[in-house]
Amino acid sequence: MRTALVTGASSGIGAELAKRLDSLGFRVILTARRTDRLEALAAELKNPAAVIAADLSKREECLRLYEETKEMNVSVLVNNAGFGIIGDFDSTDLDRELSLIDVNCTAVHILTKLFLRDFIARDRGYILNVGSSAGLMPGGPLMAAYYASKAYVVSLTRGIAEELHARGSRVGISVLCPGPVETEFNEVADCHFAIRGISADYCAEYALKGLFGRKTVIVPDAGMKIAALGAKLAPAKAVTAIAGKMQSKKLED
Ligand SMILES: NC(=O)c1ccc[n+]([C@@H]2O[C@H](COP(=O)([O-])OP(=O)(O)OC[C@H]3O[C@@H](n4cnc5c(N)ncnc54)[C@H](OP(=O)(O)O)[C@@H]3O)[C@@H](O)[C@H]2O)c1
Repeated sequence: MRTALVTGASSGIGAELAKRLDSLGFRVILTARRTDRLEALAAELKNPAAVIAADLSKREECLRLYEETKEMNVSVLVNNAGFGIIGDFDSTDLDRELSLIDVNCTAVHILTKLFLRDFIARDRGYILNVGSSAGLMPGGPLMAAYYASKAYVVSLTRGIAEELHARGSRVGISVLCPGPVETEFNEVADCHFAIRGISADYCAEYALKGLFGRKTVIVPDAGMKIAALGAKLAPAKAVTAIAGKMQSKKLED
């Protein structure tokens, strides 16, 4: 049976991606730390799903997750787990920020590399890395580490996509770059959106169309497409200042 591994499947975009992949006929391997939520989601799905608890801030847990799933015929990997931290860089907690880099960058890096090797050997498979529109911006005051982590995901994915293209590989890799999406992201980051977000369900549907349509950078909302284009054309300093204004609104009462 075609199998998809979805990280961060206990909530938000990851849970919706898992549901959509299930409805497309995939067996889904659900992973996150909160297994009660994963079990509840698994019970909702049409196809038999697997649940694996893993804390992806730990390198050995990323490697264990790969070891436990590598023989399960995974042909779609979704690196979705991630979180944000808001605040001036000198005031945010160092350990939590290092954990953000571990989950948002290192785990994505490890799982992409290990599964990509298998996919290339079979000349089939898709990897969807969940980045953010933040990763398309030159910088993000008040969320500096988060923006930097997502820029890493965007750059990594674009580089690999070109390597695959150059060798005529059938393996696909994409990066999803949404603006605000209504999930638990803000609760975790302890802020609120400056603008209304799209639904996680719509985001997931759009993402999978882009992934299977072999689009490298997937931006699911029109407003963010315009913002991303503006960020390419306008001076980086001006774009960074605007990003900072947007972030500061997230902290207003
Ligand atoms: N919501 C937005 O506006 C937005 C916009 C652009 C990009 N994104 C990106 O979308 C992705 C999903 O976020 P979301 O918006 O759906 O937020 P969410 O509802 O808070 O979901 C985050 C998911 O990541 C998992 N996760 C966090 N830390 C983890 C860890 N150490 N180990 C394993 N799993 C971990 C969580 O699972 P557990 O807590 O159960 O471990 C949860 O399933 C993230 O990469 C985020 O950066 C979100």
